[in-house]
Amino acid sequence: MNATQELLKEKLQQALVTAFGAEFAGVDPVLVAASNPKFGDYQANVALSLAKRLGQQPRVIAQAIVDQLDVSDICKPPEVAGPGFINLKLTTQYLEAQLATMQADSRLGVAKAKTSKREIVDFSSPNIAKEMHVGHLRSTIIGDSIARILEFRGHDVLRLNHVGDWGTQFGMLITYLREVYPEALTTANALDIGDLVTFYKQAKKRFDEDEAFQEQARQEVVKLQAGAADTIHAWKLLCEQSRAEFQVIYDLLDIKVQERGESFYNPLLPKVVEDLEQAGLLVEDQGAKCVFLEGFTNKEGEPLPLIVQKSDGGYNYATTDLAAIRYRIQEDHAKRIIYVTDAGQANHFAQVFQVVRKAGWVPDDVELVHVPFGLVLGEDGKKFKTRSGDTVRLRDLLDEAIARARADLENRLIQEGRQETEEFKANVAKVVGISAVKYADLSQNRTSNYVFSYDKMLSLKGNTAPYMLYAYVRTQGISREGNIDFENLGTDAKILLQEDTELTLAKHLLQLDEIISDVEQDLLPNRLCEYLYQLSDKFNKFYENCPVLKSEEPIRTSRLALCYLTARTLKLGLSLLGIQVLERM
Ligand code: ARG
Repeated sequence: MNATQELLKEKLQQALVTAFGAEFAGVDPVLVAASNPKFGDYQANVALSLAKRLGQQPRVIAQAIVDQLDVSDICKPPEVAGPGFINLKLTTQYLEAQLATMQADSRLGVAKAKTSKREIVDFSSPNIAKEMHVGHLRSTIIGDSIARILEFRGHDVLRLNHVGDWGTQFGMLITYLREVYPEALTTANALDIGDLVTFYKQAKKRFDEDEAFQEQARQEVVKLQAGAADTIHAWKLLCEQSRAEFQVIYDLLDIKVQERGESFYNPLLPKVVEDLEQAGLLVEDQGAKCVFLEGFTNKEGEPLPLIVQKSDGGYNYATTDLAAIRYRIQEDHAKRIIYVTDAGQANHFAQVFQVVRKAGWVPDDVELVHVPFGLVLGEDGKKFKTRSGDTVRLRDLLDEAIARARADLENRLIQEGRQETEEFKANVAKVVGISAVKYADLSQNRTSNYVFSYDKMLSLKGNTAPYMLYAYVRTQGISREGNIDFENLGTDAKILLQEDTELTLAKHLLQLDEIISDVEQDLLPNRLCEYLYQLSDKFNKFYENCPVLKSEEPIRTSRLALCYLTARTLKLGLSLLGIQVLERM
């Protein structure tokens, strides 16, 4: 609900009270956006909902409210329509005043949250020595955007990378490392073992073939858990190598995230099990320590346990998440913890959340939220793979997007007969390529699967990053063409709304605040994408309809100011998606 709606709601409530008495003070005026802009901007449906209670015709009730309703500072005279709707249309004067406030505000009317909260966004979280795959890419892009939006709203956001850096697979990896790089383990130098994924596969092959190797790997696990210096050294080498590979992706995507991997919580795991035992939640099942859950059953309908300690004494993914939640609440003082992972982990989080709540570790004012997302599919509708059937390396995927953006640009330059420097071309290709990948991901409702298509995401038409970037470039083109520095226009340059396309654009601009608080609540960045897409579209319609530089004053300045406000809104909105704008493209 934005400021206008709140004001209208208040006035409607007052009118209700005056017309029908104090007992109507709390009645919901049922204020919604008008279904058809022809009838106005908002409509109040309260009369229909009160008809039964008052035993009167809805139209009569609506008229009684309208008779008492003074909204002349915001709206044109309200009208009763249809079965008893109250139609409300904002005045141009009001809209102009709102725009003036927005222009003067560096936050473009987006209020800071009333209370700043500590929020944790757990995102990206790839696994050491394994491929960072498209699922991690989605988590990285969506998590980063959510974090940016919360930060902008003034929250104290902790971005955490819950890297998978622990587990029995390290026994195998370290054993193999000793075999092939014995020298690396005795020097302090960082090691370059090339492609870690190949390394992983080779280690796995050795493990599967050789029993002596398996035995050694088991011993390495024991040593790792006991903290033996040489084993820890080898483990660190592997982590560093992976970290460097992940960082390449984060740099390309401009992602900031703090690593706090699974291993961080190791020292806390025994206490987790102990406290669950104390709380009377633990049951031994075939030697494993488990918590039985409500609402989770196997195929036979028997209750499903969540294992927190295996029969060999080892802990697992779930135990680590239990410890992490407690740490994040007690030590980080988080009030909301947001987990961005594929939908396949929905059960894992539902189970872990249930256990910590049962154990009483979650105070009432702390929210735990799993933010699930769907799969990335190839254009054939199947799991996203390379032509040869291998998983796509993220590095290659991003490079490909940049290369294609570059080819598109070169074509355009030829068509338009333009010459540009190498530096310009490289920068545009990079920004367009990366933005296209990010935007394609963010613009889908994250809960559905999405089809990865370079052609679609790089198109200048449709709901794509290039379309949005182009709208921004257009605003900058106007400023160049008119030799006008937008910033010198002053934030008090008066916007006058005359044409329909101007009014439509203005009303849309004024919704930014509401959209951002919606995303803060429901954590669906696609709503911001949709807003920006509509904004670009409405701006383009305005631009086609209303001459800017060729208009007479004061309309010329007004339209320039509208262009500038649109540009600022696009730039801010895109920045919250992790997308950078271009002055020219
Ligand atoms: N490393 C996990 C994976 O690759 C994701 C971790 C998500 N975060 C968490 N706290 N469990 O699937």
